[in-house]
Amino acid sequence: MPDKVTTRTLQQMKVQGRRIVALTAYDYPSAQLADAAGVDVILVGDSVGNTVLGYENTLPVQLEEILHHLRAVRRGVQRALLVADMPFLTYGVSVEEAVYNAGKLIQAGAEAVKVEGASPRVLESIRAMVGIGIPVMAHLGLTPQSIHQFGGYRLQGRTAPEQEALVQSAHAVQEAGAFSLVLEVIPASLAQRITQELRIPTIGIGAGPHCDGEIQVWHDILGLSPHQYKHTKRYAHLRETILNALRQYVEEVRTGQFPTLEQSFEVKS
Ligand code: KIV
Repeated sequence: MPDKVTTRTLQQMKVQGRRIVALTAYDYPSAQLADAAGVDVILVGDSVGNTVLGYENTLPVQLEEILHHLRAVRRGVQRALLVADMPFLTYGVSVEEAVYNAGKLIQAGAEAVKVEGASPRVLESIRAMVGIGIPVMAHLGLTPQSIHQFGGYRLQGRTAPEQEALVQSAHAVQEAGAFSLVLEVIPASLAQRITQELRIPTIGIGAGPHCDGEIQVWHDILGLSPHQYKHTKRYAHLRETILNALRQYVEEVRTGQFPTLEQSFEVKS
């Protein structure tokens, strides 16, 4: 097995120009497969809310739900760096709560946590978490926990002042101690500028080809999502594959083609 990925590995990868591959996973088999495929960073994202739990967005996701999925993913990961998302309201309210909740995720097996935004409270929380030894991945741009403020899932950094603000926020999370930064749905040229200016690696999603790495959602790249988004590419069409297999199963049980004696047992006398 290649060497265990750590936060230091990601820093070295940026310096050496080696691209970082990140992917979400929400359970034991998906974690095992992502790890076996050589994914460098596995994120137990709060996207579990929309992809697995059937919520409309990530806002209802609870810390206990992330913990539940994290424990399963932990059992399937050996090499990748395992990062857990901090859900809405688990870090933006008070620094003490942020540190405590991040600690719970670390105790459940995460090797780092991810937080969205760069408000003064979030920056303070990043400093406090890093201060007690918890590595923090930052996340800027189209941060899904703020969709109501954004008015939907829209490209961020459309105007020059918005772009300047995002650059400032990127520097702020770096200075607060974040070890890497996810950039979601921002112009490719802006992501390129941030990537060039920062010491820490950037990991894009819908942020163009110039980031230090890329993160995607498990269900999107495998064709399990009902929609195809502009920022994703389907490497398989599992929704159709699974639906066809299930339809065939239904048909065969109904018509008596399955099970046959081949799948049956008998006591030999
Ligand atoms: O929750 C998630 O899946 C994420 C990634 C899209 C970065 O935050």
